[in-house]
Amino acid sequence: MQQILVALTEQVENALEKAFPNESCIAKEAGKKLEPQIVPASKPEFGDFQINGALGLAKKIKQPPRQIAQAIVQQLRKNKKFEELCELPEIAGPGFINITIKADCLIAEIQKRLNDKRLGIALASDLNSQNTSTVVVDFSSPNIAKEMHVGHLRSTIIGDSLSRILEFRGYKVLRLNHVGDWGTQFGMLITHLKHVAPEALTNQDSIDLGDLVIFYRQAKAEFDKCEKFQTSSREEVVKLQKGDKTTLKAWELLCEQSRQEFNKIYKRLNIEIQERGESFYNPYLEDVVKDLSTSGLLVTDNGAKCVFLEGIKGKQGKPLPLIIEKSDGGFNYATTDLAAIRYRFNTAPQGDGAFRLIYVTDAGQASHFNAVFQVAKRAQWIPRGCHVEHVPFGLVQGEDGKKLKTRSGETVRLKDLLDEAVDRAKKDLQERLKEEGRHENNDFINHVSTTVGIASVKYADLSQNRITNYQFNFDRMLSLQGNTAPYLLYALVRIAGLARKGGNLKASVDTLQFNKPQEYNLIRTLLKFETVILEVEAELLPNRLCSYLFELSQVFNRFYDQIPVLKADEPFQSYRLVLCRLTAETLKLGLNLLGIPSLERM
Ligand code: ARG
Repeated sequence: MQQILVALTEQVENALEKAFPNESCIAKEAGKKLEPQIVPASKPEFGDFQINGALGLAKKIKQPPRQIAQAIVQQLRKNKKFEELCELPEIAGPGFINITIKADCLIAEIQKRLNDKRLGIALASDLNSQNTSTVVVDFSSPNIAKEMHVGHLRSTIIGDSLSRILEFRGYKVLRLNHVGDWGTQFGMLITHLKHVAPEALTNQDSIDLGDLVIFYRQAKAEFDKCEKFQTSSREEVVKLQKGDKTTLKAWELLCEQSRQEFNKIYKRLNIEIQERGESFYNPYLEDVVKDLSTSGLLVTDNGAKCVFLEGIKGKQGKPLPLIIEKSDGGFNYATTDLAAIRYRFNTAPQGDGAFRLIYVTDAGQASHFNAVFQVAKRAQWIPRGCHVEHVPFGLVQGEDGKKLKTRSGETVRLKDLLDEAVDRAKKDLQERLKEEGRHENNDFINHVSTTVGIASVKYADLSQNRITNYQFNFDRMLSLQGNTAPYLLYALVRIAGLARKGGNLKASVDTLQFNKPQEYNLIRTLLKFETVILEVEAELLPNRLCSYLFELSQVFNRFYDQIPVLKADEPFQSYRLVLCRLTAETLKLGLNLLGIPSLERM
């Protein structure tokens, strides 16, 4: 449909130019054009698209919108290409023009999809040859010596899906895990461990992440109350930064301990990500300070080097500073992020040569990124044509609307959360098998419940508009009804079932022919896929893809329930099977782009 839309836009722009030559000229001189404003029709009975431009132009052209719409339609009807593409346009309401694409054009589009593994989705390089470069997606990014929490889970799931979509569009995606592996916390932790568990600093596997988290908490408490402890911790950080062998070794061990735990989660979720923690940017921090100083942005305030932010004020109405180097010579989270921006935009070998940087974190970090991006812009570290984007998301809440907690009030461990999702999926499955009188072996039961459990957690997260907080609810996410992973997976299973019942989903057909509204509904929905992917790419909202896949499953289920497929006479049986096959391919690809594998049976 994207190509149809491009052709239609061109035709309407042409019509506008012909109908209003003077206004067109004026607009052109100002470097603009008369906007056709074509949007998808708000209801299927209005056709495929709606041209809204007449309403916006009324003031400029000084004519009532309906009259403008009529003039546009008159011009359109003179155009042969438009006649081939569209039915007679209809003017509605105050001056909308409803456009219905001709059936044979839709069928031709469907035909094109048949041998197209990309299902009509162009590679970015086909659209614009400059855009083929690298995108950095900075996601997941938990902290060493701390547990990965549900916020990191959201970042992981959303970041992975965005990466998959960008990859499919042909970008080179650098999936970066910006783990918190540097800073004062290591000084504290190492000092504490030297006292209470020295073996942990020299011996791999002598403690696990759970112990580490406890030790970290104790260290923090000690740090807050004891001055001597503070001094030794700072000394330990300095040693670390100077590359002292023993301290570095201890640090590496701690990182490795956490890494192993994180990797278990990534493996279960099937996440590919490259670790490049904060420590990586350590050698580049000095350059940040130097460069900011040369450009005159750096100010010393109370002994700290900082940049005062424009348009961001503190409590007393004074501009807020972003601290680059603390008075004790230490660097901050923000300094590392500034160094990372420079590195990511710089070209190889001293950088990644990216053109778009995407950061997936909770909305609580919006002001951090706002400040960091502002300083990077003012320091001219963001090259022309390049972008930085924060992709914020809301909190994960329990059913009470409060922060997600276990019954006993503790923070939920990700491992337990995933285990529970899989366990519940298993129970649901076993009940269903009993009801249906089916007997399946353990391999089947385990495979299906693991897939459904993990898919449900991912989908529940992705299907929400990420900006809003979302309520975690096992029953809802595992339900076979509604906008859930099981509902989509089940639509696929239904289609696979057609093949098991003897339908040939792979048969090749030369010409297609359709005459039922259910078929056309399905065709129209199938053809929206590309537009949806482009939208997600631009706005970084995976929930759009979820809504689309849900709509596709619903439209398919209506088609399947209301008109015969295997019982239809030939050649209609084959034609309908073609639509089933395309639906399955679209659902499979769509789910894959969300990081969700599909099932043949469930
Ligand atoms: N480690 C941080 C946290 O747990 C997230 C890091 C996000 N990425 C970044 N480049 N700052 O909150």
